[in-house]
Amino acid sequence: MDKVLLLCGSPRPKGNTMQVLQSCAQVIEENGVEAEVISFAGKEIKSCIACNKCVELKKCVLEDGLNEIIDQVREAKGFIVGAPVYYGTARGDMMSALQRIGKVSGATDQFLSWKVGGPIAVARRGGHTASIQEMLMFYFINEMIVPGSTYWNIVFGRNPGEALEDQEGMKTVHKFGENVAKLVKILNQDIHF
Ligand SMILES: Cc1cc2nc3c(=O)[nH]c(=O)nc-3n(C[C@H](O)[C@H](O)[C@H](O)COP(=O)(O)O)c2cc1C
Repeated sequence: MDKVLLLCGSPRPKGNTMQVLQSCAQVIEENGVEAEVISFAGKEIKSCIACNKCVELKKCVLEDGLNEIIDQVREAKGFIVGAPVYYGTARGDMMSALQRIGKVSGATDQFLSWKVGGPIAVARRGGHTASIQEMLMFYFINEMIVPGSTYWNIVFGRNPGEALEDQEGMKTVHKFGENVAKLVKILNQDIHF
């Protein structure tokens, strides 16, 4: 079955970003596509060290758990990322991960090409749109397909649980999940064009 992988960039295993992604995953499953949420909690994701070893190794030289995530991304038809906003931008670990995932894709078989997905930003009050824009750069340079929703994918919340109370934010994320699932199904029919 086609699968969408949702990557949570928060260090809090039960934080707002995790709860938002789990709710998005549920909608994806309701729309007939498998969904799995994985988290950075307990991991320390390093930044790309520009060694270019991925060209020969076909994986990242840094062994901090990201290669296992990259294997899961490779197998999935959809890839959604969710990050908490820290000081007006997406949490650093998420950007480090996206830069390395993109580098490995480019150094190997461009496995990100035509995967469906997009970013979600979660924050107490500000910096959501800048964070979405930062993460979108990864999607567009890797030839990925990003559906829209009824608003931008931003959710408001500070303490764990508050994000789920942001009705408009959650409605936006649910419609986004539905659109990702629909596109995954359409794009993975046996149609050649
Ligand atoms: C270091 C740090 C910086 C933060 N910076 C912002 C910020 O710029 N804007 C904002 O609205 N919230 C900010 N927050 C609050 C978090 O984005 C908010 O609590 C969010 O719900 C955390 O998501 P999580 O529960 O998934 O970890 C910051 C939190 C931390 C720990």
